[in-house]
Amino acid sequence: MKIVVLSRNPKGYSVRRFREAAEARGHTLTVRSPLKFSMYVAQGDPDLTYNGKEFADCDAVIPRIGASITQFGTAVVRQFEQMGVFCLNTSTAISVSRDKLRSMQILSRHDIGIPDSAFVRGKEDVLPAIDALGGVPVIIKLLEGSQGVGVILADSVNIAEAIIETLQSARQNVLLQKFVAESKGKDIRAFVVGGKVVAAMRRKAAGTEFRSNVHRGGSTEAVTLDAEYERTAVQAAQIMGLRVAGVDMLEGIDGPQVMEVNSSPGLEGIEGASGVDIAGAMIAHIEDQVLFPDLDLRQKMTSKSGYGVVEFTLGPDSPLANQTVEGSNMRDQHEVLVMSITRGGNVIPTPRGDQAMLPGDVLLCYGKLLTLRTITPEPVKRVKKKKKIEL
Ligand SMILES: Nc1ncnc2c1ncn2[C@@H]1O[C@H](COP(=O)(O)OP(=O)(O)O)[C@@H](O)[C@H]1O
Ligand SMILES: [Mg+2]
Repeated sequence: MKIVVLSRNPKGYSVRRFREAAEARGHTLTVRSPLKFSMYVAQGDPDLTYNGKEFADCDAVIPRIGASITQFGTAVVRQFEQMGVFCLNTSTAISVSRDKLRSMQILSRHDIGIPDSAFVRGKEDVLPAIDALGGVPVIIKLLEGSQGVGVILADSVNIAEAIIETLQSARQNVLLQKFVAESKGKDIRAFVVGGKVVAAMRRKAAGTEFRSNVHRGGSTEAVTLDAEYERTAVQAAQIMGLRVAGVDMLEGIDGPQVMEVNSSPGLEGIEGASGVDIAGAMIAHIEDQVLFPDLDLRQKMTSKSGYGVVEFTLGPDSPLANQTVEGSNMRDQHEVLVMSITRGGNVIPTPRGDQAMLPGDVLLCYGKLLTLRTITPEPVKRVKKKKKIEL
């Protein structure tokens, strides 16, 4: 395969490791600066030039788009996508994960722990927001900061208001976030490749610093994640649509709190701490994906009108509960195929006819919408957890 890394740092550790891993597997790897591409957008004929010259085809792209060039960089990745080239992370997932507010908003509706956060504009809204987050000290974050720059701990309301006012006057949007004090300047970085945690480390901030970023002098050590941290990291990456992700989690009293999902996580700290060949895992994942590209199953399977895909938890009163797949006659009489059953976190793909379906199982089914409607539970109405502020 011909693999292209989009990076402005060809001599950096991560890119060096990509080259070693790719060449060890018989591929060629070239590094291209995203800023030297020009994109030509024409119907049916999207095209790219590099340094003014026609860009030779490649099989896969590893995007390493820095935070300062997100817009142009993701446009280059999108152009590769339009040309049908496999991109290890998609342009959409990269842009979404760059924005800390957007990421927190998207994660907030899932079963993923996150530090409570608030986004306000008016000066008069700052104080109620700080109260709702449990008071000071409170974290203030630039929406698009990285390497710890733009993450501030404010000890008092006055300081918080002054910082927010200053940043807003400089046209910077900021996020307010609960300070997870029990994490004590430590956090966990889990490196996810293709839906699996391939390596993890704990980072510890230096001295009195609360930010544990390696770029802020944080030290690293290998950790083995417990099941809850592993599940959280894998799901957070999946929700953000990232095949490769560095998921940052604080160790809260109630378990993992995801602060950030990085789309271009560095390899140096974590390969050093864990001894895992992460670059190799990334190249191996590219090989799999180029062979069997992802496809949007829902889109494919709903193209015939009246048919669709649903996933739902089997209730005790469902007509399918405690029946076998074959005994339920779903396939032969009702045109519904049970594609997988998830029980206690374990997936049973393409279950056999004698497989029982138990209350609490999560079923993934394809078939006639009319039947699917009769076997899926009513959507649950959203209940507000707690009312925080009396108005
Ligand atoms: N809500 C928080 N509570 C406690 N520590 C935090 C919180 N948010 C961030 N930190 C610390 O600051 C570091 C940087 O924050 P992060 O949101 O990951 O920004 P960056 O993109 O700059 O890395 C984290 O690794 C963590 O150590
Ligand atoms: Mg971070």
